[in-house]
Amino acid sequence: MDKMIINGGRRLVGEVEISGAKNAALPILAAGLLARGWSTLHNVPALGDIASIKQLLTSLGVQVESQGSTVRLNAEGIGKGEAPYDLVRKMRASILVLGPLLARLQRAKVSLPGGCAIGARPINLHLAGLERLGAHIDLRHGYVEATAPRLKGADIYFDGITVTGTENLMMAATLAEGRTVLRNAAREPEVVALAEVLQAMGACIDGAGTSVMTIDGVAELQATEATIIPDRIEAGTFMVAAALTGGDIRVKRCNPEHLAAVIDKLRQAGATVEAGASEVRVSRAGDILPVDIQTQVYPGFPTDMQAQFMVLMSVARGQSIISETIFENRFIHVSELQRMGADIKVTGETAVVRGVATLSGAPVMASDLRASASLILAGLVAEGTTEVNRVYHLDRGYAAIERKMSLLGAEIQRVAV
Ligand code: EPZ
Repeated sequence: MDKMIINGGRRLVGEVEISGAKNAALPILAAGLLARGWSTLHNVPALGDIASIKQLLTSLGVQVESQGSTVRLNAEGIGKGEAPYDLVRKMRASILVLGPLLARLQRAKVSLPGGCAIGARPINLHLAGLERLGAHIDLRHGYVEATAPRLKGADIYFDGITVTGTENLMMAATLAEGRTVLRNAAREPEVVALAEVLQAMGACIDGAGTSVMTIDGVAELQATEATIIPDRIEAGTFMVAAALTGGDIRVKRCNPEHLAAVIDKLRQAGATVEAGASEVRVSRAGDILPVDIQTQVYPGFPTDMQAQFMVLMSVARGQSIISETIFENRFIHVSELQRMGADIKVTGETAVVRGVATLSGAPVMASDLRASASLILAGLVAEGTTEVNRVYHLDRGYAAIERKMSLLGAEIQRVAV
């Protein structure tokens, strides 16, 4: 298990190139199950979670070849349609193979993903939607066993907005008989990116990016070639790093359109943000100002940026209120930030953050992907040395973050423990 050692106090200055989006690549790789023949995906990020889903696809009989950030896959010969517990438990988003397997093989056996640090992460909305498409679902011995002689299009209303639930149902509906309507669908850019790849494969999808999507089933889909969109959360993390350290960073190969809420909040917090077509420049000269945030589904402020923004607010000139409305347990980073001197009080889904003059470096423990990123950010501005342990959490979603940060002037190194 590696740890990161950071010596705080350096301004981050320079340019950073954003990698492909983890949360777009995962469903798009799963969509490869829907077609025969070789699909080619470019700009796939080198992440732990991507390695996990490639391992799962291989175990399902998919041929997977990687060359740098290009992944080729061929689902011609998929066999049993079973995703085992020891693979799924490593990466919850493995549930994304359920819809495609059901559509392609008329059966699927996928381990229930179980919860994680940030919440119980149920999949009831996924399963209810698949049943509406005519699937028979059994939950046995920790597995979802789904069968469907032929999926039939249906009018489905999601009781709650779910990103991977929308993606699972969209994929299943592409090969169902007739029309499926998804109401209260997620509108995240990663949902739109998946829809675009499915359309390139021959799917008939309308309304992606809105809360009502229409999918007209087709007989089969063809392999395709696609490029993964930039990771808006990695971009947002570096944007916060610029504001936090009083630096000046050009965040390149990102899509500012996907970051409107984050850009707005950073400007309110006193940062200067110049948005171009595919890059954002962030700097900060004056005080960090307190800003209230409430996490929302897209296009609201993303829950995946809550922990990072809380670090910025922990050294702001005043008090801010941070509400986490998406996950029930996404304040795990708070206790670690408190050990670094942050003044944060949590009541239910609300954290009251009173800015302090400085944080102090300390050994801290990463718990989930975005909490780990927030601890790295805190180390950048803390006095002295911060050690972030269990960085495997970080490696799931950030490609070589210490190299990218070092190039910007951070004093950070990875140490094998
Ligand atoms: C996706 O998770 C992302 N992961 C998460 O990113 C992100 O935080 C989340 O969307 C919200 O934006 C991927 O795309 C792989 P949800 P997902 O279903 O789809 C509840 C990261 O750090 N819910 O939109 O699992 C659920 O418990 C990760 O990259 C049900 O109750 O999230 C949560 O409270 C973390 N029943 C809320 O809905 C269901 O069947 C939103 O969850 C499904 C979800």
